[in-house]
Amino acid sequence: MKKKLLITCHAPGARTQQLADAVLKGAREIEETETVFKRAFDTTAEDLLAADAIIFGTPENFGYMSGALKDLFDRTFYLCENKVDAKPYAIFVTAGNDGTGAVFNIERICTGMKLKKVLEPVIAVKVNSPEILTKAEELGAALAAGVAFGVF
Ligand SMILES: Cc1cc2nc3c(=O)[nH]c(=O)nc-3n(C[C@H](O)[C@H](O)[C@H](O)COP(=O)(O)O)c2cc1C
Repeated sequence: MKKKLLITCHAPGARTQQLADAVLKGAREIEETETVFKRAFDTTAEDLLAADAIIFGTPENFGYMSGALKDLFDRTFYLCENKVDAKPYAIFVTAGNDGTGAVFNIERICTGMKLKKVLEPVIAVKVNSPEILTKAEELGAALAAGVAFGVF
């Protein structure tokens, strides 16, 4: 059976959606993995439990993740506790001028959930340059390939 990669993201505007599309494109290049994309608001604890790996995406708002992604963690934390140990995850963030606050706080929660960070986050500051879009594609492909071939 194919491994499952879940990409869950809140994309209120064009830049986060473009980054999410790039991550999805890269992930779907790896046919050995089934990649599912869901809006953060539509993502459930069952989705997190069913996935073999997860990519979280969000803009940085007020030095933090979006309320929508925080809502996902609020709704699912206890339902997932002790059931997602060492599950690989990665992050992508868009930001106007920083992005590190969102990453720091997502990583803090993921550490609490005992998820396993397996790749460095992709942070797109100010613009989505061709280089950052390539990095986003590579992030999706690397996680999809890693989980398919048991690298993590
Ligand atoms: C309410 C709000 C708060 C924001 N706070 C931050 C912030 O703390 N740090 C930052 O770098 N950018 C901040 N930004 C800029 C957004 O991160 C940026 O516009 C967004 O990532 C662009 O993606 P989008 O096109 O999907 O909206 C904020 C934007 C909004 C609307």
